[in-house]
Amino acid sequence: MTTTKGLEGIVATTSSVSSIIDGVLTYRGYNIDDLAEHASFEETVYLLWYGKLPTEKELAEFKGKLSSQYAVPSEVMDMLKQYPLNDIHPMAGVRTAVSSLGLYDEKADDMSEEANLNKSISLLAKLSTIVAAFSRLRDGKEIIEPKENLSYAGNFLYMLNGNEPDEISEKAINKALVLHADHELNASTFTARVCVATLSDLYSGVTAAIGALKGPLHGGANERVMKMLSEIGEVENTESYLKDALERKEKVMGFGHRVYKDGDPRAKHLREMSKQLTGITGETKWYEMSLKLDELMTNQKGLLPNVDFYSASVYHSLGIKHDLFTPIFAMSRVSGWLAHILEQYDNNRLIRPRAEYIGPPKQEFIPIEKR
Ligand code: ACO
Repeated sequence: MTTTKGLEGIVATTSSVSSIIDGVLTYRGYNIDDLAEHASFEETVYLLWYGKLPTEKELAEFKGKLSSQYAVPSEVMDMLKQYPLNDIHPMAGVRTAVSSLGLYDEKADDMSEEANLNKSISLLAKLSTIVAAFSRLRDGKEIIEPKENLSYAGNFLYMLNGNEPDEISEKAINKALVLHADHELNASTFTARVCVATLSDLYSGVTAAIGALKGPLHGGANERVMKMLSEIGEVENTESYLKDALERKEKVMGFGHRVYKDGDPRAKHLREMSKQLTGITGETKWYEMSLKLDELMTNQKGLLPNVDFYSASVYHSLGIKHDLFTPIFAMSRVSGWLAHILEQYDNNRLIRPRAEYIGPPKQEFIPIEKR
């Protein structure tokens, strides 16, 4: 038996959802660069779930179904109100709320493809409602009802802030959602697939995936990037901050990747967005600091920024609270998790690897009174 720490380089499944080949990321064969420039998030989700880009009619129908599903069961919302909202991380709240959605869906264990697709639409819509409601409730604000004529990105900002977003903010969130939607067999997607490969239900798979995304080595990195930028404070402190961090052998959040060694293709889009949005807010220092860190890390460590690095200053510039960065990642990645869950159900086999035993050798049992 041979072991590979962290399963590096192990091909654990076949998939037709997304691919990373020679550093190029595609969803169903479409380059992420094209999707980021031209597609709406809803179009991207349709592509991930149905395997093809929608026609105008198909997209309109899909959007209609999505819009009709934003309302969260009152029981789930009542429970959410009881969470210690100001003492917990929103990712913990979102994870628990998604799990409880399964309690109030009588089709939770219906494994038909139709039921699973309907649940997917419902979960995608409700996740944005839950994130926005969590944020407003902990601030002592009223929950905002969704507006059905808005896009997924626009409606989220509306439910979060209580007013319709400007075009630039809506476009920025839309693009960020497209860029985060899927990413081959990343840690949270693998978690989702392992979970549902036992033929457990879709809510369990997504709940497990949210738990995996929460960690700082995965989706939790974007929030920590902003914490780091805030600690650096000013551009001129960047070099000394990084020197100290590297001397302490700390991981610099937002850099490095298990798969990409020549750069994450999503980062350039977010870098441009960071430049544009910090220019609008006038807080260009977040972009300049990020750029400086990027240069220093590339030159000193050969490590390049990943998707989480520039997304931090993008979300910050949009006025989003820092601990909502990872929940927004989840609102997008849930589309990828669900595409993979549907694919797993379609051609399932239990996922059960082995472990190489390195514990004590054979031992003789000593009865408790003689130990
Ligand atoms: N800062 C400093 N050093 C780093 C970093 C970093 N961000 N990333 C990797 N390294 C170093 C490691 O210390 C290690 O050095 P060593 O061989 O001298 O011990 C070497 O590079 C290899 O790193 P691993 O952690 O073994 O690489 P792995 O492929 O397991 O991890 C990961 C990839 C988790 C992304 C890692 O680069 C990291 O921790 N980055 C920071 C957290 C982060 O940004 N996560 C988001 C990833 S993207 C996403 O999930 C959405």
